[in-house]
Amino acid sequence: MKGIVLAGGSGTRLHPLTQAMSKQLMPVYDKPMVYYPLSVLMLAGIRDVLLITTPADMPLFQRLLGDGSQFGIHVDYAEQEQPNGLAEAFVIGAEFIGDDPVALVLGDNIFYGQGFSRILQDCVRDLDGCTLFGYPVRDPQRYGVGEVDAGGKLLSIVEKPSDPPSNKAITGLYFYDNAVVDIAKGLSPSARGELEITDVNMAYLREGRAHLTELGRGFAWLDTGTHDSLLEAGQFVQVLEHRQGVRIACLEEIALRMGYISAAECYELGARQQKSGYGEYVMDIARKAGA
Ligand code: DAU
Repeated sequence: MKGIVLAGGSGTRLHPLTQAMSKQLMPVYDKPMVYYPLSVLMLAGIRDVLLITTPADMPLFQRLLGDGSQFGIHVDYAEQEQPNGLAEAFVIGAEFIGDDPVALVLGDNIFYGQGFSRILQDCVRDLDGCTLFGYPVRDPQRYGVGEVDAGGKLLSIVEKPSDPPSNKAITGLYFYDNAVVDIAKGLSPSARGELEITDVNMAYLREGRAHLTELGRGFAWLDTGTHDSLLEAGQFVQVLEHRQGVRIACLEEIALRMGYISAAECYELGARQQKSGYGEYVMDIARKAGA
């Protein structure tokens, strides 16, 4: 399976923070935001990643992530000239996707929860059509919202409804079979001029091939859309990391645990950042793994 991180957009809701730099490079406590969604793809076992961003921001992402080989993955880059909608990712990425299934994760989505890796890997293995993730929120009108029947079966999805049919937001993580490329290419722009991901999902739903995996109360799906929620996401990460002594979305650690890099390679990555607590942590887990 291929993976796409969509990290474009104008980030206007976070101005002036994002006036000069991409939202997805903003710090979420101890690491850039994009580490979190990239960690999700890596935990799913996806090693071929396309990062889509604006022409202006692309060099910054390249400086941060390079070709991904330090993490035992491959990162390609593509430009999205204008924020023409999330589903444009499949049009821009058509060649990269080729004949494979693909996962899309939005570059500003942060997930955390026990057993998430297993859920992701099961999802890759059992994919049939598309898999979406539902998460209960207090303010569903800000998201794509799923309408489900009494048995939890997904009936429809509405984008930012003023009168939400449920409290189940559809998160920014989507798994699709290869049909997604043709579906996206066949879409017309919505009233707000975008190729909507909800229209892609509705196409799968109409064929009875859209599946909803519910992330329950034990999960955190964090918002980074406002100054307050961005700070709160950082505080959430800080509290967990301090309390447990582990790091969330540490790409070096994930690469090591997934067997993408050796303990010695992991140690070397940590040593390059040894003046930061993050680097010390990476060296420490590498040492424990035998480096
Ligand atoms: O976060 C989950 C939500 O993401 C879903 O529940 C919604 O169904 C989905 O439409 C989307 O809603 P947002 O309001 O968050 O979409 P937004 O336009 O803010 O874009 C999400 C991220 O993707 C944002 O970081 C910018 C980036 N983006 C957005 C567009 C429209 C791009 O990179 N390119 C784009 O063309």
